[in-house]
Amino acid sequence: MADKVKIAVIGLGNMGVPHVRDISTMDNLTLVGVCDTDKAKADNIAAQFKTTAYYDYKSLFDKSGVEAIIIATPHYDHTIIAVEAFARGIHVLTEKPIAVHVNDAKKMIAAWEDAKKKNPKIIFCAMFMQRTYGFWQKIKSLIDNGDLGKLMRATWIITDWYRTQQYYDSGGWRATWAGEGGGVLMNQCPHNLDLYQWFFGVPDRVTGFVTLGKYHNIEVEDEVTAYFEYKNGMVGHFLTTTAEAPGTNRLEIIGENGKLVYENGKMLFTQNRIPVFKHLKEAATGFDKPEAWNCEIPYKHHGQPGHRIIIDNFANAILKGEKLLAPAEQGINSVMMNNAIMLSSFEKKTIDLPMQGDAFEAKLKDLIKGSKFKKEVKGGGPVNMNSSF
Ligand SMILES: NC(=O)c1ccc[n+]([C@@H]2O[C@H](COP(=O)([O-])OP(=O)(O)OC[C@H]3O[C@@H](n4cnc5c(N)ncnc54)[C@H](O)[C@@H]3O)[C@@H](O)[C@H]2O)c1
Repeated sequence: MADKVKIAVIGLGNMGVPHVRDISTMDNLTLVGVCDTDKAKADNIAAQFKTTAYYDYKSLFDKSGVEAIIIATPHYDHTIIAVEAFARGIHVLTEKPIAVHVNDAKKMIAAWEDAKKKNPKIIFCAMFMQRTYGFWQKIKSLIDNGDLGKLMRATWIITDWYRTQQYYDSGGWRATWAGEGGGVLMNQCPHNLDLYQWFFGVPDRVTGFVTLGKYHNIEVEDEVTAYFEYKNGMVGHFLTTTAEAPGTNRLEIIGENGKLVYENGKMLFTQNRIPVFKHLKEAATGFDKPEAWNCEIPYKHHGQPGHRIIIDNFANAILKGEKLLAPAEQGINSVMMNNAIMLSSFEKKTIDLPMQGDAFEAKLKDLIKGSKFKKEVKGGGPVNMNSSF
């Protein structure tokens, strides 16, 4: 096995270009091409990083000798490009969401499973870089370790994904059913939904309430409230919007052993001396409460956006069999939670999971067909992605 993987980036926009820049600083990857359907962008980035420009992914696959790709195109194309790459035995790191709907996610996983018949070591990775963040890793370890005891409720208020009208106007595909397949839940929240399922698993029942274009001139959702139910009795809430400022990012997890809150960079655990389920049965008086004390939980965080860490892990998974931090087949879970919230809201009913993909895909096709929204694209200046994570 060579000591460098021949890699290319497909889609050279806000996210693809930082990926190219990261690759250019890494010693386990060689950039063998960049690809964008916008010729000027591809030529410009190829010249800047001294590589070859391609304008369609198939000629990149045919001519570059590429072994691995990063897909950073708008979401619908993640599926088309990944399926073709797997058919040719190429390793795939896809941007989030892995797909727009469950049926597309299943197609990608099936193509990867097929490719594994020829090369059992073929890698399918997703850009869920928030999994590398020290605070989320600490929360995951506290839950897995049973520190909170039996879980009762997890409420995530994630309303600090603020976006202006200019953001939505900056790209023709953004915030349209045909171009993106959704709004805040599809574009900003895949990270949070992925973390939610990573911590707690996929809910068994989902009820969603979404409003379309409530605060922005867009046809997709910009405000969401969801209610999750688990067979083990845990309930969850997920609230998001792109219109609140200053907005909140507060994850509150309640277990029988107390309350864990992560907000503003601080992780506080209020620990019950006696677990609630024991105390509420055994307390001698009606208004007694378990004794509790506060503890600030320490964690270490690398402080980086994290994409480079995922790319490095992808390369090392190919070269040395390193364990993936974000296996892409798990990406179907956040896609399913997204689709269930949306479908629940459209159909005004609770959705049982796991769900089949056909109903949401059909709904999406109806929305695309019935769309009367006229998108006015007004290009903005260069985007600093660091303010977006
Ligand atoms: N992980 C993160 O932190 C993060 C942050 C932002 C965006 N993203 C994801 O990255 C993807 C791209 O988002 P963006 O903001 O960079 O979009 P963008 O519009 O800035 O860039 C997309 C680029 O893809 C090109 N393109 C479109 N179809 C193509 C195709 N078939 N082949 C080759 N090039 C094609 C476009 O010309 C454009 O240059 C989305 O899926 C988004 O969710 C991830």
